[in-house]
Amino acid sequence: MRAHLRLENISASYFSGREKLAVLKGISIDVAAGEFVSLLGPSGSGKSTALKIAAGLIRPDYGDVYLGGHEITGQATRVGYMPQQDLLFPWKTLLQNAALPLLAAGLSPREASARVSGLLPVFGLEGFASYYPTRLSGGMKQRAALLRTVLIESSLMLLDEPFAALDALTREYLQEWLLQILNRFQRAVLFVTHSIDEAIYLSDRIYMISERPGRIVLEKQIDLPRPRSRSIVTSPLFAAYRESLMEALAAGSKE
Ligand SMILES: Nc1ncnc2c1ncn2[C@@H]1O[C@H](COP(=O)(O)OP(=O)(O)OP(=O)(O)O)[C@@H](O)[C@H]1O
Ligand SMILES: [Mg+2]
Repeated sequence: MRAHLRLENISASYFSGREKLAVLKGISIDVAAGEFVSLLGPSGSGKSTALKIAAGLIRPDYGDVYLGGHEITGQATRVGYMPQQDLLFPWKTLLQNAALPLLAAGLSPREASARVSGLLPVFGLEGFASYYPTRLSGGMKQRAALLRTVLIESSLMLLDEPFAALDALTREYLQEWLLQILNRFQRAVLFVTHSIDEAIYLSDRIYMISERPGRIVLEKQIDLPRPRSRSIVTSPLFAAYRESLMEALAAGSKE
């Protein structure tokens, strides 16, 4: 199967003054069409950097990025990228925030507003179109940002820890909800998380990245049946995946 998104042998670094900070060291990541792939690893390991490279927002020092077979290294292409922070513009309402990609794609404000309004119930946001972000709960803000990401016309979504700031119950609820949304919208996803359980529950495949400079220390296929329900987290297979990922995390932190 040809990869839909491919990061090939990517190395990246940042400069602070004259100091060079090596962040990623030769990582390769594939995401097939319709596949849910997670990038899991410790804080500061370069996960967000990898996602920005996939989105074409940063050019790597080495390596190439391919989307649908085309080389797109360092070019901001039309992918649904949801950054880790600064999700919504505080001076725009929920509806205005969510409509941005549609306006950018050339829809009239009226068409964009109708399209967003039609999807508000799907995202549990009905009745909140005119609210500004400060009046939305954390979970609502995340759902609004996901709605905006889904509205970007692309077969790929890059999601950077979309549920990290939420309490455990809201987070579990949103994980199940995201799987339902994906059933409906059929996107490939590259998903960044710190949480081993979240990665196993959601993914078809997981890459574990080491501490900085990030290398891939494990690639794991997750063969849990779909549709998934919460009860699979207590299954022996889930526990076995958790154990091998925890081992890889520990091994990647020791060096
Ligand atoms: N714009 C930047 N300029 C300089 N250094 C940066 C920049 N962005 C990130 N870094 C550094 O690069 C390293 C990797 O950062 P990155 O945000 O990719 O990690 P991460 O795995 O996403 O971490 P977290 O899990 O905490 O979000 C960190 O040491 C960080 O300080
Ligand atoms: Mg990050």
